[in-house]
Amino acid sequence: IKNIAVFTSGGDSPGMNAAIRAVVRTGLYYQLNVFGIQRGYDGMVNGDIFPMDAKSVANIIQRGGTILKTARSQEFRTTEGRKKAYEQIKKFNIDGLVAIGGDGTFTGAAKFIEEHDIPVMGLPGTIDNDLAGTDFTIGYDTAINTVINAVDKIRDTAESHDRLFIIEVMGRDSGLIALRSGIGTGAEAILIPESSTDSKALLEKLAHGRKDKSSKIVLVAEGDEEGGAFAIAELVKEKFPNYDTRVSVLGHIQRGGSPTCMDRVLASRLGVAAVEALLDNRRGEMIGLINGDIAFTPFSKAIKHIDSLTPGLLKIVNILS
Ligand code: F6P
Repeated sequence: IKNIAVFTSGGDSPGMNAAIRAVVRTGLYYQLNVFGIQRGYDGMVNGDIFPMDAKSVANIIQRGGTILKTARSQEFRTTEGRKKAYEQIKKFNIDGLVAIGGDGTFTGAAKFIEEHDIPVMGLPGTIDNDLAGTDFTIGYDTAINTVINAVDKIRDTAESHDRLFIIEVMGRDSGLIALRSGIGTGAEAILIPESSTDSKALLEKLAHGRKDKSSKIVLVAEGDEEGGAFAIAELVKEKFPNYDTRVSVLGHIQRGGSPTCMDRVLASRLGVAAVEALLDNRRGEMIGLINGDIAFTPFSKAIKHIDSLTPGLLKIVNILS
């Protein structure tokens, strides 16, 4: 392997820049030529590929977003699009790729490897933490810290006005942001896609739980099947018309901002490991960290996050609230 390229794809996450930096600097350390691809698979299809050096990744470890930009490419979903992408990377003699993203990114990468002879290694970059094969994804720690800072502020108003706040957090298919943020903010309850009886449990809790509480916080993951925060608020208002209930949707503030030290270190470790894995002739795997050690998981398994809720965490919410 002599020429590698790095790209980010799907939703951005804090720490992607730290990962790009690690890949570029490790590539240079091993005397490879390193290229950047703009806007993920879209840039690959269109040949938006440029050489990178140590300076091109200076002063980015602390920045949110991704300097390479990102996109969800429609064209790359087609056989024709992937063929165009392969022709482009061959033009630049690229013989190894590092993809930073989530399940959509790895689904695309798996197809690409199936159809064309190109090694790809993946780094888990998503705030959702919804990938198998890593304890934490790059961006998750920053996102949950953003959530707890926001919820702490909302708690002030909830406490001052004796209110119940239903707060919606991100997580299209996964309740992991809601779960850890819920524990970290002392939430009354959390509602997540992995469990279908949460609203019943919430109503029960409100009916029979402690009566001496002045403020109440409920976290709802956006992907919860019982509806988002507004739908849950309607249920609560109907049953408990005396509660002063409010809704707050945190939205994209969860995706931005300077990455935490945990995310920067995770991104740096995984970035180094990705380049070393390409040099070891590995392909088709996501690199993660399990119990502190580097772990390799085939793309097909990494995207099959079924239920990575750490056993016991949900119980903790109930015991402690
Ligand atoms: O994949 C991360 C995520 O934050 C999901 O939780 C959320 O549903 C989605 O991105 C929103 O993506 P976008 O802002 O690109 O529509």
